[in-house]
Amino acid sequence: MTLSNLVRIAAVPAAFALVFVLVAAGDSAPVVAAATAQEEAAAPPDNPVEATEESVRSGLRVYGRFCRSCHGIRADGQGMTAPTGSRPANLIDDEWTHGDTDGDIFLVIRNGVPPAYDMDAWEGRITDEEIWHVVNFLRNMAERMAGR
Ligand code: HEC
Repeated sequence: MTLSNLVRIAAVPAAFALVFVLVAAGDSAPVVAAATAQEEAAAPPDNPVEATEESVRSGLRVYGRFCRSCHGIRADGQGMTAPTGSRPANLIDDEWTHGDTDGDIFLVIRNGVPPAYDMDAWEGRITDEEIWHVVNFLRNMAERMAGR
């Protein structure tokens, strides 16, 4: 098995918890390497997009278009047209139900919140880069709202 095959297998999203990979180390006996795909998939990525004014402005545009209806004009969770019974999160307070790092927030936006998916998965509808812009926008908004 080639290294690139290995990399591809390791990159498959975590449909199953454990991926066992056989590595033929030259002529010696095969070494069994186990990669916990679940763990890898769950490790939140670092934010690769610097929070420049331009990024924040791009995030604002995306937010206004796709998020404001539920999360509200101030991002405080008071959107006018959230589905009945759903409770959109306040995105400018310090409470994060699904993790408080930029990477955690990125993953929630990209993957949505199961099982109801009132918070939808946005993967494929907005780009990863746009999601990072939104994260930067939300951080900036939170700071401004807190008067920092
Ligand atoms: C149809 C309504 C709706 C839309 C549109 C929507 N959300 Fe949500 N969002 C929700 C709801 C409801 C929750 C709470 C989910 C839960 O925790 O059960 C949520 C949760 C979140 C969270 C997690 C907050 C936390 O406390 O961890 C983030 C981040 C978030 N939304 C960002 C966004 C962004 C960014 C967009 C636009 C791309 C967006 N949402 C669009 C309804 C929506």
